Amino acid sequence: MTILVTGAAGFIGYHVAAALLQRGERVVGVDSLDPYYDVSLKEARLALLAARPGFVAVRGDIAEAATLAGIVDAHPGTTAIVHLAAQAGVRYSLENPRAYVRANVVGHLEILEAARRLKALRRLVYASTSSVYGANEKRPYAVADRVDRPVSLYAATKRADELMSAVYAHLWGIPQVGLRFFTVYGPWGRPDMAYFSFARAIVDGRPIRLFRGGVLLRDFTYVDDVVAGVLAAVDRPIPWGDGPPHRLYNLGNSRPEPVTRLVELLEQALGRPAIVETAPMQPGDVEATAADIAESTRDLGFAPRVALEEGIPRFVTWFRERYRV
Ligand SMILES: NC(=O)c1ccc[n+]([C@@H]2O[C@H](COP(=O)([O-])OP(=O)(O)OC[C@H]3O[C@@H](n4cnc5c(N)ncnc54)[C@H](O)[C@@H]3O)[C@@H](O)[C@H]2O)c1
Repeated sequence: MTILVTGAAGFIGYHVAAALLQRGERVVGVDSLDPYYDVSLKEARLALLAARPGFVAVRGDIAEAATLAGIVDAHPGTTAIVHLAAQAGVRYSLENPRAYVRANVVGHLEILEAARRLKALRRLVYASTSSVYGANEKRPYAVADRVDRPVSLYAATKRADELMSAVYAHLWGIPQVGLRFFTVYGPWGRPDMAYFSFARAIVDGRPIRLFRGGVLLRDFTYVDDVVAGVLAAVDRPIPWGDGPPHRLYNLGNSRPEPVTRLVELLEQALGRPAIVETAPMQPGDVEATAADIAESTRDLGFAPRVALEEGIPRFVTWFRERYRV
């Protein structure tokens, strides 16, 4: 099978592409190598993928129609798209809203249009986020819950993606699975995320800022568990029901933990204490995230295996090796 993976130089895209190559697929990996964070990390991920048979790297912007049309026409036998390219990060969406609409809304539309051109396409799997649950107080978050109170533009763009996908399933019958990821972490992770930037600060002896003293709860999900969920969304028969072929699932660990627990585990694994400062909650942030995974377990066989106690030491092993600390 030829599978198009967007955001292949990104954190989750790299891991998904590696897992697909591992099982013998041909992977066309598209990424613009956006400079939102350290581009050398993206290049290093791509270099690892390029060393494996079956990987084709394409540097391009998914928000440009001509780029995607060119890719799709060059690989007409593509049977699945795993769309992970995006402008990620909640807080940066307050600073640079246009980057989010371009990559996440225009980019998603162009992916849908590209999907229409692919006659052999069996499924489009795309990334959404727990942020769509916004200011909801009911927890755990279930897919059937209302998602009309986003608190960041990032969340609004991802919800817009889900709605556009629903329309393309309805109008053109493109089978699609949207996956709402919950705080994904692990080796080759994203430097802008708390676990990564805290590790850096602890090693450098700089203070870390804990919003509301670290009482916020996050459903930290290990990247290998997310990859298993993504692959299942590509492979498994989905019970579409009577409506258009579009379903949404939560991919979260379903075990929320306070951010202070994350800090303790980082301190233990790095063998150094953190210098902690507390700060008020940030605009756009939410108190707690918690995934209801009953449907993901039933339909995708999703069963998170890696607890934070195991995942953080694995991340730290990689971090120490990469940054020689
Ligand atoms: N990591 C998480 O905790 C998390 C949580 C919820 C949702 N998500 C979603 O999962 C997906 C993957 O996230 P990630 O953590 O791997 O982020 P990432 O930033 O590491 O990966 C995204 C990749 O997309 C690329 N990209 C951005 N704009 C592009 C464009 N216009 N054209 C082509 N490539 C472009 C970037 O260069 C980057 O390599 C994203 O859709 C993100 O919104 C991630």
